[in-house]
Amino acid sequence: MDTESEDGFLQPKIHPLTLFSATKSQNRLLYACAPMVRYSKLAFRQTVHHFGTDLCWTPMMLAKEFNRSRFARDSDLTMSTPTPRTPTDAGVSESGAHGRGIGEVPTIAQFGASQPLELSRAASLAAPYVNGVDLNCGCPQSWACAEKLGAALMERREVVRDMVVETRSRLQRDGWAVDLANYTPSTDFAGRGRSVSVKIRVHSDLRRTMDFITTVLGDEHNRNIDWLTIHPRTRSTPSSIPINLEALEILTSTFGTKLPILVSGDVFTLSTLPYTSHLLDPQPTFTTTNSDNNNEDLSKSHLPHLAGLMSARALLANPALFGGHDSCPWEAVDVFMSNVARAPLPLKLSVHHLTEMCGPGFGPDRNAALLTKKERLRLTEMGNWVDVIDYMDEIRSQRGEKGGIVRVV
Ligand SMILES: Cc1cc2nc3c(=O)[nH]c(=O)nc-3n(C[C@H](O)[C@H](O)[C@H](O)COP(=O)(O)O)c2cc1C
Repeated sequence: MDTESEDGFLQPKIHPLTLFSATKSQNRLLYACAPMVRYSKLAFRQTVHHFGTDLCWTPMMLAKEFNRSRFARDSDLTMSTPTPRTPTDAGVSESGAHGRGIGEVPTIAQFGASQPLELSRAASLAAPYVNGVDLNCGCPQSWACAEKLGAALMERREVVRDMVVETRSRLQRDGWAVDLANYTPSTDFAGRGRSVSVKIRVHSDLRRTMDFITTVLGDEHNRNIDWLTIHPRTRSTPSSIPINLEALEILTSTFGTKLPILVSGDVFTLSTLPYTSHLLDPQPTFTTTNSDNNNEDLSKSHLPHLAGLMSARALLANPALFGGHDSCPWEAVDVFMSNVARAPLPLKLSVHHLTEMCGPGFGPDRNAALLTKKERLRLTEMGNWVDVIDYMDEIRSQRGEKGGIVRVV
């Protein structure tokens, strides 16, 4: 773990369930940044948090490597030391939290693991630095499934249950508060509470998903997981096919009263979600960017027991999505670049982020791109940061735009 000061991490951390309760009491859904291999790194997490994302996932880290090597830990998990707290740092600002400073970002460390000991050890090593740990049961890639990781775990529900049970008891032995038997929204874990959660896909036979969740959840009054993230696609459904709304409706109505459920998949803008919730205000308009979207018939799905929204691709393109922006504003580019200056990323990776943010994105306005295709291509040819910054500033001044990285840093 790349640390600026070890002591900084020993400060109390907010329990993620407190965030779920807080957003519910604010009459809104919780907003989450999905785990994204390569992309959901510190500077990006800080950027989306600045624009209203409540809870951020790290990219999936392989528990085996994380446990075995300090170098793997240092390169995979980078956290910042907290700066003095502001009233909005807890991620629960009144307004939906637009424009936060660089406070501590509530962060979930996601692991790929296939055995209880592997996950529990990784959780124990990560716990001082993060707010919770999550198990990836959704990665469909063949190498992961060959290692019995990711989506392969959807066929091994008892193993997943054993992994989360072992992880909970390891964290408890280490002195972290994980007891949900007596948990209420006002429970104060004195900053030592840590969560254990899983992120799943669905089966084509939904009864198997119901069995999976029932097994992993355990006793609902003293459950094995704090919450569940559902990506309502099967292991073989490409991400170009819309999420399975019917499955989501059934799963949230069956389990959403027992534990908080986040949906991952097709959260493109807050105004174009294909479902409604009393926690969504204003209600989505039901227009989608996908003309083949066969969810139209089901577009009025009402999900009263959904607790939150997790976005991956659309947040990459527009880190300000949860701040209510349908397309990426220049301000998000500035915030990202100033975060990269403090928490560096490789140049090529940063430029990739910039081309995503300056592209057409996933909002309803296909002409909202900040840069033309040609300009984005030019950006990918830049060999150093000075050229990148100069080029962005030049384009902005041509457009009469104020701002820029130099002014933000
Ligand atoms: C570049 C990329 C990397 C991803 N990496 C992970 C990962 O590390 N762990 C995981 O559980 N899901 C991962 N996913 C899946 C996303 O978390 C999410 O479930 C999926 O993309 C659907 O959400 P979206 O429609 O908002 O993109 C990744 C997705 C993308 C696009």
